[in-house]
Amino acid sequence: MAKFVERVFSGVQPTGNLHLGNYLGAIVKFVELQKTHDCLYCVVDLHAITLPQKPEELKANIREVTAAFIACGIDPEKHIVFNQSQVTEHAELAWVFNCVARIGWLNRMTQFKEKAGKDRENASVGLYAYPCLMAADILAYRATHVPVGEDQKQHLELARDIAQKFNLDFAASIAANGYGDAFFPLPEPLIQGPATRVMSLRDGSKKMSKSDPSDYSRINLSDDADAIAQKVRKAKTDPEPLPSEVEGLKQRPEADNLVGIFAALNGETKLDVLKVFGGGNFSAFKSALVDLAVAKLGPIGAEMQRLKSDPASIDRVLVDGAARARAVASKNMAMVKDILGFVR
Ligand code: TYM
Repeated sequence: MAKFVERVFSGVQPTGNLHLGNYLGAIVKFVELQKTHDCLYCVVDLHAITLPQKPEELKANIREVTAAFIACGIDPEKHIVFNQSQVTEHAELAWVFNCVARIGWLNRMTQFKEKAGKDRENASVGLYAYPCLMAADILAYRATHVPVGEDQKQHLELARDIAQKFNLDFAASIAANGYGDAFFPLPEPLIQGPATRVMSLRDGSKKMSKSDPSDYSRINLSDDADAIAQKVRKAKTDPEPLPSEVEGLKQRPEADNLVGIFAALNGETKLDVLKVFGGGNFSAFKSALVDLAVAKLGPIGAEMQRLKSDPASIDRVLVDGAARARAVASKNMAMVKDILGFVR
């Protein structure tokens, strides 16, 4: 298989309530990867409209995610920060992928089943085709690495299947056009660390989610110190003391979740955390977790507020990022058109 230049791509939906799961599962890794890779970070507004959105809220949420990226430490000058709808190649390539992906593949997507719920007939066609657009996001840049939380693993596998099928179906045309033996890389998911699946603070069997009706289930990036403290103190636990070994967290989802959150916030392993807190009760551990979470998230929330007070400067970041993203995507899209046999 051809060698591709390493490039990172990831996206976050502007659907409100950015939370600790988004931060630890994805954004922290986005920040880290800037040191070693060229990165593109995208506010995926086309994905957001697969479910109903209020236009004014959507606009505010696009700016909110952009502000969060920057406040968390993403550098929009060295890397590319933009919103998906400003680079039309995403939608264009998604259409091509709608014609590459098989209905059987999409029928297996668990996230569609969860989001569509019981009334599947009434879900949007966009919600069904969502993973094809996600593959297009990544492959419009021929990105090789995709940092995401655990819940996106199946979508990433589908993106790899699409890339592989395109490469195989069009192998002769790819070669005839002088584009080598494979046009798209098979993008690798980066899902590592102690918090790839942050769970609800109210129920250790449910994922921490933007759409959970209880605000106590999640810590939002915009929460102030009081809110963070209250939510951690009210977080569900069990009556046993904390174990001293990671093995002891099995069958204890709430304890496992809080220890994972602590470890990820502090850049250490679960075992490191248990070495300090193992054998102790939850109240001392929770106090330390409040201090840590406030120290890490407080400045991010404050910086987000500051950035959001100047929406014009956020919009400038997005326009500039979109122009730089388009420069890459349009070249790749032109080659895709050659491969498909379109006249241009
Ligand atoms: P979204 O907007 O739901 O979530 C953004 C990122 O946060 C991660 N995440 C979590 N990680 C750990 N624990 C949790 N509880 C948790 N909740 C969310 C997600 O895994 C994700 O990495 N389809 C994507 C957006 C997308 C995308 C892409 C991602 C569109 N195109 C291309 C990568 C590449 C989504 O809905 O993420």
